[in-house]
Amino acid sequence: MIQLPGLIDPHVHLREPGATHKEDYNSGTSAALAGGFTTVLAMPNTQPPIFDTETLQLALNSAKEKARCDYGQFLGAGPHNANWDTSLPTHAAGLKMYLDSTFGELRLDDMTLWMPHFQNYPKNMPIVAHSESRSMAAAILFSTLYNRPIHIAHISLKEEVLLIKAAKERGIQVTCEVCPHHLFLNTTNFKENGGNLEGGRREVRPRLATQADVESLWENLAVIDCIASDHAPHTAAEKDSPQPPPGFPGLETSLPLMLTAVSEKRLSLDDLIEKMYSNPKRIFNLPDQAETWVEVDEEKIYEIKATEQLTRCGWTPFEGWQVKGKVCKVVLRGKTAFEDGKILVPAGYGQNVRTS
Ligand code: NCD
Ligand code: ZN
Repeated sequence: MIQLPGLIDPHVHLREPGATHKEDYNSGTSAALAGGFTTVLAMPNTQPPIFDTETLQLALNSAKEKARCDYGQFLGAGPHNANWDTSLPTHAAGLKMYLDSTFGELRLDDMTLWMPHFQNYPKNMPIVAHSESRSMAAAILFSTLYNRPIHIAHISLKEEVLLIKAAKERGIQVTCEVCPHHLFLNTTNFKENGGNLEGGRREVRPRLATQADVESLWENLAVIDCIASDHAPHTAAEKDSPQPPPGFPGLETSLPLMLTAVSEKRLSLDDLIEKMYSNPKRIFNLPDQAETWVEVDEEKIYEIKATEQLTRCGWTPFEGWQVKGKVCKVVLRGKTAFEDGKILVPAGYGQNVRTS
């Protein structure tokens, strides 16, 4: 048995408000605890999106009532909400900017719409960019022009990890995260190439990449600050429909996959703790959680099964995978929150990382 700190997932979609049939603050934070996370940071692309006082309050009210682990809620950058001179940012995990394609209120059609956000969002609060390939290079340029840190979400390509490496070597204030699915899956996992992902089940943004990209992420693990699940639950029926939404659930598979990699000596346990606890805690400026830890049976070998998960979405891209390392117990602020597959703290036990 080994003991880990309460892990932090800085990138999850909890679907509340607006799509609670996929997930909500209750089911999502339950899945988090089952996966060894005691803090999750929730993305703003909900319905409505979280981008002002009213919508932030909407999400935080649900969270306060339902969350079972600690949480923060991101604000989203849109074309009309860059006047960040109020106290609003102090109540949010950070600002999420969708610099590639997205729709509705969080759409930023050209770079003139990025400028006021970089200018006005408080420099001591995190900005996270969804920015793939060349728009990632532009996001890094913005961080130097405005002299402020930027965190790049879910990198997946060799060119991305090499660019971030070069930027870090020059002292640019850039950090990044990678998702387990971009470390463990690639285009050969598609059904026609011998894997088990078919049709809409394979859809995720960023897309699964080539084996050469995957290898370069592993080779450059030292460049990667955080492991983040990008837990993006959609129901199995939605994934199998003619217009499948992109996204994979990940809260309950991230730690077992990374522990399996530790058992295979692809990284050390210290690396895992750094990328799933210390670095996200520092980058997102998160409070200490007293009397909080995770007990893991590092020898336990088992099969991943969607039927045993607490996420509401009902499927996993890792169905049937054999992993080594199981979460047995999670203690959060002195209370056993999860043990032997069961959630033991009530809805509302979770605290907001920004206002407690
Ligand atoms: C995200 C989701 O489902 O909210 N999906 C994903 O594949 N990561 C949205 C997105 O980031 O495009
Ligand atoms: Zn996401």
